Amino acid sequence: MTFICHLSLLSSGRLLLAILVLDWLLAGTTHATTHEPGFSAPITNVTAPLGREAILACTVHNLSTYKVAWLRVDTQTILTIHTHVISRSRRVGVTHSDHRTWFLHIRELRETDRGWYMCQINTDPMKSQLGYLDVVVPPDILDRGTSTDQTVREGASISLTCAATGSPHPQITWRREHSKSISVADGIQVSSLDGPVLNVSRVNRQHAGAYLCIASNGVPPTVSKRIMLTVEFPPVITIRNQLVGAALGTDLVLECETEAYPKPVSYWSRETGEIVPIGGGLEPQKIDGAYRSILRLAIRRVTNTDYGTYKCVSKNSLGDTEGTIKLYPMPLPPMENRNAIQRMNIMADKSSESTPFGAQDFRLQDYNGAISKDQFCYVFSLSLLILSKIITSLM
Ligand SMILES: *[C@@H]1O[C@H](CO)[C@@H](O)[C@H](O)[C@H]1NC(C)=O
Ligand SMILES: *[C@@H]1O[C@H](CO)[C@@H](O)[C@H](O)[C@H]1NC(C)=O
Ligand SMILES: *[C@@H]1O[C@H](CO)[C@@H](O)[C@H](O)[C@H]1NC(C)=O
Repeated sequence: MTFICHLSLLSSGRLLLAILVLDWLLAGTTHATTHEPGFSAPITNVTAPLGREAILACTVHNLSTYKVAWLRVDTQTILTIHTHVISRSRRVGVTHSDHRTWFLHIRELRETDRGWYMCQINTDPMKSQLGYLDVVVPPDILDRGTSTDQTVREGASISLTCAATGSPHPQITWRREHSKSISVADGIQVSSLDGPVLNVSRVNRQHAGAYLCIASNGVPPTVSKRIMLTVEFPPVITIRNQLVGAALGTDLVLECETEAYPKPVSYWSRETGEIVPIGGGLEPQKIDGAYRSILRLAIRRVTNTDYGTYKCVSKNSLGDTEGTIKLYPMPLPPMENRNAIQRMNIMADKSSESTPFGAQDFRLQDYNGAISKDQFCYVFSLSLLILSKIITSLM
């Protein structure tokens, strides 16, 4: 009662409101009915996403001249009485269906709206029941508390963290891009890992790449953050064909693959240490956090001085490595194999869009007329190259 007197004194504008509340509170004592009103069903809990509208329903029977009010339990405030909105919030509304079901509307939901709501009938004593409104919030990944891209030396240990908010509290899952597996402790590989922290002890180059921290709580949309892990390591060289045979006068290409981080400097040299200019050498391309590139050395019309050892050298701040290829002399193939070689060259024509020699060197029409010895030898060495490629790809 003190609460009501307080209200009426506030301002004359609020007098109507005070009368309403008073009327509602006293109504129970002035009615003398045989059929007391009551609740037909409990209030169903409501779950609604942030920003949307929630509707709580209270179903009553035999209301007669009694009234229904909605209250917020946590703050002990009256929201609505009968068809009047008492709350000063423009987000609150009340509707009814035939005076039987009374709907409390809360629009543009906020997290503070979460809690218990009471539906009251002003009988004496009052009748009331409770319903719970849950406001769910989609997950959000916080910059603060979430790792940014990392660069570490091989052998170091790192800890990637991911912080997310949302209601219910989001679950964090780690995955790697391209479905790569995550290695957790001593060679155990998993496709995903749950929890806000991803520890990698003794990082190696296989750990390099993009990691995804995914936050989900069943409220769409699920969000993720991509964290790039770059691992620094000295160059590694891979050579597919360490022995290459070529006949005098033929053309050929030597290949070596390097991988390193930071970006390496790579070149070809002879046994003597003399650096061989590569011409259109390819720039290292960053793949999965490491620089990978294929170094090609094109040799046209092999002469005697071209035979011998070639070194492909790669250096960065962490070290240097070299690989060797031996080019040895080979006799020309016998005449009867030439048709087969021509057929193989058709395949080469399709797959060699750009070559260290330029595209025209690989055109089939060069061989449509009489094949010169030069061209023939070139076709042969090229075929060998393709054959070795096919064989290695089959292995
Ligand atoms: C409501 O009142 C009527 C009499 O007016 C009575 O017959 C009926 O049972 C009451 N309804 C409920 C659900 O109690
Ligand atoms: C309504 O929600 C509250 C709070 O989460 C819970 O305690 C209660 O059991 C729920 N009631 C029903 C009927 O689901
Ligand atoms: C990750 O490593 C830190 C220490 O660097 C440790 O405190 C923490 O428990 C580890 N977390 C997990 C999930 O292994």
